[in-house]
Amino acid sequence: MVTTDQLIKKAVKMKENAYIPYSKFPVGAAVSTRSGIIYTGCNIENASYPLACCAERVAIFKAVSEGEREFTDMAVSANTMRPVPPCGACRQVMAEFFPAHMKVHLINKEEHVKTVTVEELLPFSFQTEDLQVRE
Ligand code: THU
Repeated sequence: MVTTDQLIKKAVKMKENAYIPYSKFPVGAAVSTRSGIIYTGCNIENASYPLACCAERVAIFKAVSEGEREFTDMAVSANTMRPVPPCGACRQVMAEFFPAHMKVHLINKEEHVKTVTVEELLPFSFQTEDLQVRE
C-alpha cells in the first residue's frame, strides 16, 4: 500500500522534471491507484503559452492512459507560500476521475501540507449525469 508520505515525497521530487522555460514555476504531482501504483507528473510548457499542461493533469492522464480508473490519493507540490491550490481545469479533471471524498494533499515550499477533498476543491461540479438532457 502507498503511504501519504511516499506520495508527498514523489510529488515534491517531480518538481525537478518540470519543463518550465517560460514561467520558471515548477509543479510536481503524484496520484496513487487502488492497484498500489504511483503515477507522477510535472508541468510541461510550450512556446505557444496556452498549450502548457499542469502537473496534476499530466499525472492523471498518464494513469488513465494506462487503464487505471480507481484512484486513492493525490499530492501536488509547488514552491508557493501557501499549499498550492490546483487550477480550475485540474479540479474538473479530478472531479471526473476521483471519488468526491478522495483526499488531495497540497504542499508548499516548506513542505507544509494541507489536505482537502475533491468535493471541497470543486463543489457542485459538472458530472456525467448532467449530460442527460431533457427531451
Ligand atoms: N500549474 C500547475 O502545473 N498546476 C497548478 O495547479 C497551477 C499551475 C502550472 C501551469 C504553468 O506551467 C505554471 O504552473 C504557471 O501557471
